[in-house]
This record gives sequence, structure tokens and C-alpha cells, in this order.
Amino acid sequence: MAYAALRSIGAYAPKNILTNEDLSKMVDTTDEWITKRTGIKERHIADKDEHTSDLGVEAGKLAIERSGIAKEDIDMIICATISPDYFNMPSTATIISNKLGLPPVTAFDISAACTGFVYILSIAKAFIESGMKKNVLIIGAEKLSAITDYTDRGTCILFGDGAGAAVISATDNKEEAIIDIHTGADGTYADLLMTPNGGTGSPHDSLEQEAGACFMQMKGNETFKVAVRTLTKDVKEILAKNEIESSSIKHFVPHQANYRIIKAVGDALKMKEEQVVVTVAKYGNTSGASIPMAINDIYENGTLKKGELLLLDAFGGGLTWGSALVPFSPIK
Ligand code: ACO
Repeated sequence: MAYAALRSIGAYAPKNILTNEDLSKMVDTTDEWITKRTGIKERHIADKDEHTSDLGVEAGKLAIERSGIAKEDIDMIICATISPDYFNMPSTATIISNKLGLPPVTAFDISAACTGFVYILSIAKAFIESGMKKNVLIIGAEKLSAITDYTDRGTCILFGDGAGAAVISATDNKEEAIIDIHTGADGTYADLLMTPNGGTGSPHDSLEQEAGACFMQMKGNETFKVAVRTLTKDVKEILAKNEIESSSIKHFVPHQANYRIIKAVGDALKMKEEQVVVTVAKYGNTSGASIPMAINDIYENGTLKKGELLLLDAFGGGLTWGSALVPFSPIK
């Protein structure tokens, strides 16, 4: 049986930066409130003509280059996004695939909000272990600024744009293999986070879109509580099932939504500060891109080394959640 290994990581953040100070001129908020309640200081915002696929392409290029695998050998691409270039079709994955000049391989998007990267990691693992695919490019890419209501201070302070990508490849070496991935969802909480407009649940009855309905809406405080509970429970389960102590985790990479959530979960798991990867201050919440962008940060600053064990933990709209135990296994 083939195993699936994380070969490389790449990420891209658009050049424009929106600071807390900038936001305080747009809505009734302050740098102090945002910093204290979320830990976010700034977020990157794509240009008007820079689409989600463009962010994904930049991250994907880096991940392919760093993997040492020729792009002609990539046989599937999956994109996790809630801000696709086009709703419904074509998928952002097919657009990215074309822009990267990949062969005509299997390409599709999935929608699992902030858990998107853990979901596509699990899909890549399953395709590789079944022998159907050998080298899968997975990309979390979001232009959340396009679906954010910049008159709603409860959400606009949180979100940013960016992309992160990884190449997952077949290996015979069990030491290199992704150890385990858990994913779950509970639709009873569907109304905590949603973008109501345009689907069959809330179809357009004219070409005029109802103001605000195409933006993300969130019950922030309720979401916060469910997030802490779910993230902690999920990680405890995956560690117990695999008989791994939290002290053996070199890098705990939680979804970057809010520093207070990260801190509460880290403390509940008895993680030391140096184990927990925190990038929320500079990127905000980039949904499906947040985990690979955070892994890329520790790769680029030299903290992440070959063979080290990553624990990923995500939570998002749906509600969805997921966790993964992943050794970093570059070929070089
Ligand atoms: N500036 C100043 N005051 C604000 C702001 C703001 N930006 N936003 C809200 N407030 C006010 C509220 O109006 C409220 O005022 P009141 O007491 O007079 O009514 C007060 O601050 C407290 O509001 P809460 O919503 O209770 O604040 P909370 O501490 O919960 O923080 C936040 C809000 C930051 C949104 C937090 O709830 C959060 O991070 N939630 C989770 C987000 C998340 O994890 N989402 C999941 C993933 S996202 C995805 O899947 C796409």
C-alpha cells in the first residue's frame, strides 16, 4: 500500500496591508479593541483585479518548486475556498491548473470554510493511499475581502486574503507518511456562519442582489464558544487514538481565527508557547488558507525541519472541523 507524504509548502500574501488603524477610520472600532479581542494587527488585501485563483497560483508555484516534483507529474489539484473566482463554475482549481500550465488533470474545489485545508489534505491522502493518484497539489486560497461587509465591525476586522499550498505524494516509507486525519461536521450550527445569497436556499429573484446577503454573516460570540470546545475535543481524540502525547508535537498549527481561541485551545492541551504557531497578528483569518500560510511561515523562518511532527487543527463554517498528524517529509 502507498502512503501519503507532505513534500512541500508554499504561500502567498497580497502586497496591500489593511491595518487596525485603517479599519478604525471605516467602522466604529479601535486598534486596542481589535488587538485585545482577537490578536490581529493587520491583514493582507488583494487588488481589485487579483482573483482567488491568482493568489492560489503564486502559492502553488512555490509548493511545486520546493517539492522537487515536475509539474508534469502532478496528477490532481484540489482547491479549498469559500471565495471562488466564480460561484458554481468553473471551479477555481481548474483556473489555477490552467494558469500553472499543469497537464489536464483532475481538478475540483471543496467548500469547508476554515477547515478546508484539512479536508483537502484528507482527500489527497485517500486518493494516494488507494493508488488512484501519486502527486496531488492542494491549495487553500481566499479573497475574503470580496465577501466581507466593511460596514459590519463584527466581521470586517477579522478577515484577510491569501493562499497556501502543499504537494502531497506517494511514498513507500511509513516514517514519512501522514499519520492520521480526522474530519467532521454538524449542520445544526449552519446558521452561525453563512453567506446567504445566490444558492437555492436563497435564490436570486432578480439581477439586483439583496444588499449584504452576498457577504459573510457570523454570530461571533456563539461561534467562539463552539470553536474552543470543538477544537480541543478533536485534538484530544486524534492524539489519544494515535497514542501520541501533546509534548511530542513539535509544531501545533491551529486555524488562525482569533488569538484568544488559539491560546484557550493551546492551554487546554498543555502546549508550551514554543509549540504553538501563531500568525494571526499579521494575516488575520484567511479561512482555508490560514493553516498552510502558517506552516509556510515556520518553513521560511527555518523553524520547520525535515521529519518534525505537525499537528493541524481547524474549525469553520458549516460547522466543520478537522485535525491532522503530519510529519514534514520533503524529498530534499
Ligand atoms: N470594535 C469595537 N466593538 C465591537 C466590535 C469592534 N470591531 N465588534 C463587536 N463589538 C462590540 C459588540 O457590539 C459588543 O458590544 P455590547 O457589549 O455593547 O453589545 C461587544 O463588543 C462584545 O461583542 P462580542 O461579539 O461578545 O465580542 P467577542 O469578545 O465575542 O469578540 C469576535 C467578537 C472577535 C468576533 C469573537 O467572537 C470571535 O473571534 N469569534 C469567532 C470567530 C471564528 O472563529 N470564526 C470561525 C471561523 S470563520 C470561517 O469559517 C469563515
